[in-house]
Order: sequence, then structure tokens, then C-alpha cells
Amino acid sequence: MNTGINLSAWMTGIIVGLALTATLAAEPPPQEQAKQLMSDPLKGNCLACHKVAGGVFPGNIGPALQNIRQLFPDRAALYAQIYDPTVINPLTVMPPFGRHGILTEKEINLIVDYLITL
Ligand code: HEC
Repeated sequence: MNTGINLSAWMTGIIVGLALTATLAAEPPPQEQAKQLMSDPLKGNCLACHKVAGGVFPGNIGPALQNIRQLFPDRAALYAQIYDPTVINPLTVMPPFGRHGILTEKEINLIVDYLITL
């Protein structure tokens, strides 16, 4: 019986486990996740059309995203605007992020939570 090999395998397991825990713990804060989603061309890509405070190279196809809490006192209305803006304006160029599965419900909620702070 060679306990040395078993011990090193066991140690490797511990180290991999610790590394995974560290990676999960390093998840960025919700506001940072929202900002990343909003500037990622494969996700929200909101900055392609909207100016957002602190965003780089914003577009001007849609209105600047500011005073959001005043514009959308109802959180559900803001969620709906991102989930499927075609309900409010069938001719909008803004993609239906939720309906098309571009963003998950969790991702839309992260963005909504961030936008109402603007
Ligand atoms: C292809 C361009 C485009 C993209 C990408 C886009 N939007 Fe829009 N958005 C618009 C336009 C244009 C409007 C104006 C309303 C309309 O067209 O019905 C708008 C309106 C809005 C409004 C309402 C603002 C107001 O002042 O009434 C919000 C909130 C919004 N967008 C959020 C977002 C978020 C969040 C994202 C990213 C997840 C996003 N948009 C991505 C084009 C875009």
C-alpha cells in the first residue's frame, strides 16, 4: 500500500477545492456585474445606443440613461422596458433582451438594480 500517493491526491483535491472557493468569492460586486453586462457586445450592449454615466464610447441612438428612478418610479416598468421594449413601442430598435434570451432574468435584475441608482 502506498499512502504517499493517496495523500498527495487528497492534498490536490483540497487545493483545487480552495482555488474554486477563491474564484467564486472573487465574483465582482453587483454594480460591477451590471456595468459589465451593459457594455458587453454579446450581452446588454446598452452602451452601443445609450449614454450611461462613466461608460466609454456611448452611442446616441436611445436616450441617455439618467434620472431613471424619476422616469421609472415603478421597478416593474423598467424591468419590462428591458425584457421586451416592443410591448411599449413595436417599432423600437431596442432589442427584446428578455424575450430573445439575450439576458437572463437575473442579469436584467442586476441591470435594473444598477439603473435605478442613476
Ligand atoms: C439598438 C439600440 C439600443 C440598445 C442596444 C439598447 N437600447 Fe434602450 N432604447 C433604445 C431606444 C431607441 C430607446 C427609445 C425608446 C424606444 O425606441 O421605444 C430606448 C429606451 C430605453 C429606456 C427608456 C429610457 C427613457 O428615457 O424612456 C431604457 C431604460 C433603456 N432603453 C434601457 C436599455 C438597456 C438597459 C439596454 C441594455 C440592456 C438597452 N436599453 C439597449 C435603443 C437601444
